[in-house]
Amino acid sequence: MDFNFTEEQEMIRQAARDFAQRELLKDVIERDEKAEFPTRHVEMMKELGFLGMMVDPEYGGGGMDTISYVLAMEEISKVDSSVAVIMSVHNSLVCHGVEKWGTDQQKEKYLKPMATGEKIGAFLLSEPEAGSDASSQRTTAEEKGDHYLVNGTKNWITNANCAGIYILIAQTHPEKHHHGINAFIVEKDTSGISLAPHEDKMGMRSSDTHSVMFSDVEIPKENRIGDDGFGFRFAMQILEGGRIGIAAQALGIAGGALDRSIRYAKERKAFGKLIGQHQAIAFKLSDMAVKIEAGKNFCYKAAWLKDQGQPYGMASAMAKQFCADMSMEVTTEAVQIHGGYGYVKEYHVERLMREAKLTQIYEGTSEIQKIVISRSLLKD
Ligand code: CAA
Repeated sequence: MDFNFTEEQEMIRQAARDFAQRELLKDVIERDEKAEFPTRHVEMMKELGFLGMMVDPEYGGGGMDTISYVLAMEEISKVDSSVAVIMSVHNSLVCHGVEKWGTDQQKEKYLKPMATGEKIGAFLLSEPEAGSDASSQRTTAEEKGDHYLVNGTKNWITNANCAGIYILIAQTHPEKHHHGINAFIVEKDTSGISLAPHEDKMGMRSSDTHSVMFSDVEIPKENRIGDDGFGFRFAMQILEGGRIGIAAQALGIAGGALDRSIRYAKERKAFGKLIGQHQAIAFKLSDMAVKIEAGKNFCYKAAWLKDQGQPYGMASAMAKQFCADMSMEVTTEAVQIHGGYGYVKEYHVERLMREAKLTQIYEGTSEIQKIVISRSLLKD
């Protein structure tokens, strides 16, 4: 067993760290307050090769492994999770989905511009009544000869506005329930697609989240991914990889909160000494570090399994559940360590706590991860 990262993985981590600390940190509070989309920073991620980073160079991607992706996600999330989630949905849901299951024609047309970051991807699964219960899709995609006709609404869609390419999940044969669901590649500027206003979120406020409405939208038949009825299994398999990215994000948020707490504990005095010299604070720091270390093991292992071509569904659900819950605990403690200062924006930890909360919700709540894990344990 080798716990060392390769030279290339270390280089990517360092590049992401530099980007986060030099470029993202200076105005992250302002972006969060104004819920302002990080246009300039997305452009920088494109230059750094972080968009399409795992896509095969044959399609213009970076050809990097999942461990490298996880390390980059972690460093960026230490500072600004809004930027990290844009990168995560684009890479591990959309690029991965088209690369693994798309046709040659689909890859040529849609993967190539995503691999270079020229176009961003969004994943449209959730609906007003199909969040956790993803198979209860109400959006319909009726077969009409050479195209599908789509009607319905998708909710809480990350990258809804900045994306040029959507992966859409919709119901074609309602009588077949999840076996009647399909996945499609959709160009965002197709006629009949409209967006509701940007969601005013608790955290990750500057990432781009909207409901997306489809009204008689025509999608060419060749844009369906896989065989008729493959859409639900496709979505489930995509989410297996997506959850590694969110675990890394949660890990980064927790790491950012610990770094800030250590710094504060070495500066702030109370009762005549630095607060880090009080056991009440020192033990909190120790507990936070232990939990983060455990999270790293979960997350890197899931990424490693994916890179080895081994099954990783249960490992990614474990990593996502553990890291998200851990991140919520660690950031809450970080606020506690900072006392009154922790509750104001200037010290960042209240924002990190708000960001951690979302990692327990999207790409499957912590409770959904327990369903995935327990079903894996109990299956014959
Ligand atoms: N791989 C392949 N097939 C799978 C699978 C997987 N990982 N998981 C399930 N399936 C298959 C099953 O084998 C089954 O197939 P058969 O009927 O042919 O035997 C079929 O799918 C149905 O499986 P289940 O009965 O387990 O399905 P379910 O309806 O009980 O749901 C669930 C299971 C795990 C709860 C699922 O609904 C789920 O993951 N829900 C959460 C959805 C989610 O994560 N949404 C996040 C939205 S995306 C997002 O947040 C992105 C963003 O913007 C940040």
